[in-house]
Amino acid sequence: MNFCKKKILITGGCGFIGSNFINYLFSKDDFNGIVINIDKLTYAGNPENLKEISEKHLYSKYFFEKVDITNYKKLEQIFNKYKPDTIVHFAAESHVDRSITGPAEFIYTNIVGTFNLLECARKHWDNYAGKLFHHVSTDEVYGSLGNVGQFFENTAYDPHSPYSASKASSDHLVNSYYHSYDLPVTISNCSNNYGPFQFPEKLIPVMINNILEEIELPVYGKGLNVRDWLYVEDHCRAIWGIIKKGRLGETYNIGGENEIRNIDIVNILCEKISEIMGKDKDHFKKLITYVKDRPGHDWRYAINMDKIKYELGFKPSVTFEEGITKTIHWYLNNKNWIENVKSGEYRNWINKNYGDR
Ligand code: NAD
Ligand code: TYD
Repeated sequence: MNFCKKKILITGGCGFIGSNFINYLFSKDDFNGIVINIDKLTYAGNPENLKEISEKHLYSKYFFEKVDITNYKKLEQIFNKYKPDTIVHFAAESHVDRSITGPAEFIYTNIVGTFNLLECARKHWDNYAGKLFHHVSTDEVYGSLGNVGQFFENTAYDPHSPYSASKASSDHLVNSYYHSYDLPVTISNCSNNYGPFQFPEKLIPVMINNILEEIELPVYGKGLNVRDWLYVEDHCRAIWGIIKKGRLGETYNIGGENEIRNIDIVNILCEKISEIMGKDKDHFKKLITYVKDRPGHDWRYAINMDKIKYELGFKPSVTFEEGITKTIHWYLNNKNWIENVKSGEYRNWINKNYGDR
């Protein structure tokens, strides 16, 4: 059944999760609508992630516009031109370490950008029937857990990094538009994702890249911090479920029910890649280097998923064993992708192809 003939405006669709989501949507039998992808194409955004979709659907079902969401006028033009009925808001500055060394962009994009989108939706949607603003957020807004406990949807916000503080602010703005203006919104707060197309600045792709280059594997502190890992395709399925069946004004936590210490992830990656390359099991482990800890490093994240499980029937389907194996093979088969995103070649290509839009 073609459940959905929606016109979906996706922000940040050239990033890691956004591009996986667009690829996921076009693979679904119950999506038969139009996607408008707006992205500023920062270092983290690569239109190349959507090569197949572009080749198949460009200007029929898939539209790309280079847009900075901090530019309100440009957003209005997009609303007037495409008249979207659904917004799925991924665009953000997303890396904690970068937010500590340079917080300003996080404030502009994550807070002001979200505000602009909300304002545009409020002003341009004449009536709210059939409309939805879905805001993609993080579990980091809840702060840090000790060795026990979980984050629930009603856990008090306690962000510790400029990244999580900016995402917390954006969540509050989205909620406020629901209460003040009845804007039809949903929010999801998800744990750490991994999978294809993740920029090599986050833990898993950094480690895969460094193993392949046989350079230092920088583990912060003692490597004992815990994250709850979710394969990106499962995240996409959860978001699609919320868009289809989520209750307006509600927040849904999404996690992998898969807590792992950082050092264990690094050891798993070392062992799996040595096995694939026919090397001794411990070959890459000698590269592990304990480095200075991240300031304000959150100790542990863990998600309670009862709400999305029982209300929307979502649970993760990809085990960590399956997901990490797929991810390693993806990076091994796409060494050019890693080279390109690291080398700046993409930037030149983007400037050439999209610079003047
Ligand atoms: P990413 O950094 O890979 O991609 C972000 C995208 O947003 C890029 O394509 C970038 O060009 C674009 N962008 C940045 N600033 C912009 C601006 N001003 N205007 C328009 N586009 C802009 O991030 P990601 O990992 O794909 O995360 C996507 C969303 O999911 C973010 O909102 C993030 O907070 C959230 N999230 C991420 C994770 C995770 O593990 N990666 C977990 C939970 C939630
Ligand atoms: P990251 O992928 O940056 O995600 P987040 O900080 O949003 O959870 O980091 C995941 C964990 O891995 C976090 O505890 C910090 C740690 N880490 C390292 O030990 N070394 C690294 O090089 C990176 C990027 C992260």
